[in-house]
Amino acid sequence: MARRRLVAGNWKMHGSLEQVDAFADALAGGAGERGDTDLLICPPFVQIERLARRAGDCGLAVGAQNVCDKAGPGAFTGEVSATMLADVGCSHVIVGHSERRALYGEDDEIVAEKFALAQEAGLIPVLCVGETLAQREADATEEVLRRQLGTVLAESGVAAFERAVVAYEPVWAIGTGRSATAEQAQAAHAFLRAQIAAEDDILANRVRILYGGSVKPDNAAELFAGADVDGGLVGGASLDAASFLGIAGA
Ligand code: 13P
Repeated sequence: MARRRLVAGNWKMHGSLEQVDAFADALAGGAGERGDTDLLICPPFVQIERLARRAGDCGLAVGAQNVCDKAGPGAFTGEVSATMLADVGCSHVIVGHSERRALYGEDDEIVAEKFALAQEAGLIPVLCVGETLAQREADATEEVLRRQLGTVLAESGVAAFERAVVAYEPVWAIGTGRSATAEQAQAAHAFLRAQIAAEDDILANRVRILYGGSVKPDNAAELFAGADVDGGLVGGASLDAASFLGIAGA
């Protein structure tokens, strides 16, 4: 079964309402070639609703970058629940981004909880996994990927991947300008798909697995050529509409 390509932008802590409007205007203007690629943008919380209002005419899905690990409502100052994200127009939410894991202490159990709560609220979680440079050099890449994906598989069950996206983001390739090679990406993606296939091979064939880490318009086509690479999760290069569409059209 052919999987549609998905190109997702993670704006991280960038942007402003003015930039949201400019980005939406550029996409609504129909710039760029989309083919049969689905587009998703995950802005900071405070920009979500503004972009979501334009999602229809931009041909865009909107997601969040993070979600509370408690269902709520409740006394969780500073947090935003999955239900609230759905309420303002999100269809997706990133969980387990390496910056959340490294800078905010999110472990596999917290990530698995967020994944489950996102699905309960009707959101599609984009589960990020990936090894650090030290782990790759210690030949531990597969062990790390197996653990990160396996914790979610154990918590939510393989059927949950009917409505989920996986993103392979090697930590050493994020924001460094040094992307994985197409061969490294394909190998990791095939490994991840095999983990799901071990439990349900039909479903494994349907799950979209995105590559993230220094994706740019000029390396996207090569990175996305792998049989198990279904698109990208793009940081820096997603902030500019022309560059994002350049990747989508790759
Ligand atoms: P860059 O594309 O800026 O390397 O970021 C990748 C990323 O972390 C997307 O989630």
